[in-house]
Amino acid sequence: MQSTRVLTGITTSGTPHLGNYVGAVRPAVAASATPGVESFFFLADYHALIKVSEPARVQRSTLEIAATWLACGLEPDRVWFYRQSDIPEIPELTWLLTCVAGKGLLNRAHAYKAAVDRNTETGDDPDAGVTAGLFMYPVLMAADILLFNAHKVPVGRDQVQHIEMARDFGQRFNHLYGEHFTLPEAVIEAQVATLPGLDGRKMSKSYDNTIPLFAPREQLRKLIFSIVTDSRAPGEPKDADASNVFQLYQAFASGAETDAMRSAFAGGIAWGDAKQALFERIDAEVSPLRGKYEALMARPAEIEATLRDGAARLRERHATPLLKALREAVGLRDLSVAVSPVATPDASRKGDAAQLKVYRERDGRFHVKLVVGKDTLAISRGAGSPAAANAQVDEAVRDGVAALDTHFELPDGTDAAQVVEAMRALRAGA
Ligand code: TRP
Repeated sequence: MQSTRVLTGITTSGTPHLGNYVGAVRPAVAASATPGVESFFFLADYHALIKVSEPARVQRSTLEIAATWLACGLEPDRVWFYRQSDIPEIPELTWLLTCVAGKGLLNRAHAYKAAVDRNTETGDDPDAGVTAGLFMYPVLMAADILLFNAHKVPVGRDQVQHIEMARDFGQRFNHLYGEHFTLPEAVIEAQVATLPGLDGRKMSKSYDNTIPLFAPREQLRKLIFSIVTDSRAPGEPKDADASNVFQLYQAFASGAETDAMRSAFAGGIAWGDAKQALFERIDAEVSPLRGKYEALMARPAEIEATLRDGAARLRERHATPLLKALREAVGLRDLSVAVSPVATPDASRKGDAAQLKVYRERDGRFHVKLVVGKDTLAISRGAGSPAAANAQVDEAVRDGVAALDTHFELPDGTDAAQVVEAMRALRAGA
């Protein structure tokens, strides 16, 4: 059975906080231990450049996030662990996707639209202060995902639109150039997808309301006691569901502990006591990880070596072969290989005409596909060179179904009569 590829990225623009831990790091590390899952973890440092223009902060954040993942149990021998900027195929694929991405779709991306709306409100030029990087953010993110044909991408709700866009770009590319990309799905942890911050809004570095994951114990306590609450006095019943203290507690506690805390809220627990319980619960989970984190941060050269090694292996295994196939597919080709008119997917001649197309697949071989509209009716077993594949195309046009029998396989469920009809139409047109 094929494994499920799960891909997680974090932008390296800040210090990891409890929201990152609960929303991304903890579930992703846990999921990576599931049998049948191939996990990809990466540091989105190209994405960081969209927001951060302080080089030292990008570097610092990259180190902190890498150390965080390792401290939280990620095993670089069992998962792919790498840094975005160590994979040059990512920006290369970004360009290929840029050329199929609808500008109108990008205009509707939340982050870009919010910037435009702010400018419009203040009477500025709509694009004032907006970089093309911000505008292209979803395309870079799509390249991160599609390059590794990820099936699932765990994200916060604010990122779901980006996954939809990745699907859209992937689909357009597949439509024009053949089935190269798996269309990814967003995965949101139902329980605790987003964590409230100190002020009750979503915990986010952009709101400056975060609790750093590895804040020293005393600072963690201070921050937790600074969480904003209402002014209900001790003894007054409190609404657990409306409380950010409770939501934070729930993200760290077992079901039974959560039920007990819910009763304590109804029974009028004092805010100070609720916060103390929250502090103790979080610290119990975090403090063993904090020790590992501090040890890792003291040896940055080891982290650097681990990341480089991950990227080198991943490029060899996935990125380089895929880009080779994509370059071929779009026509960035070896000029010494003969141009075959049938082998060039022709966007202007879509419709439902039967076509024989040659694709270089991930096995490195050249496969001929009999395609009608979006359906693939037959696939050749693959030839070692484009010339050999083109010879099979010629043979199929000349000999019809007889040639199909020699070189082709029909995917399960294919209607033989449809294949015969497609071959007839093809030969009639040839
Ligand atoms: N945009 C994501 C964030 O801000 C980070 C990210 C970049 C990402 N590329 C990705 C997440 C690909 C998942 C998949 O959190």
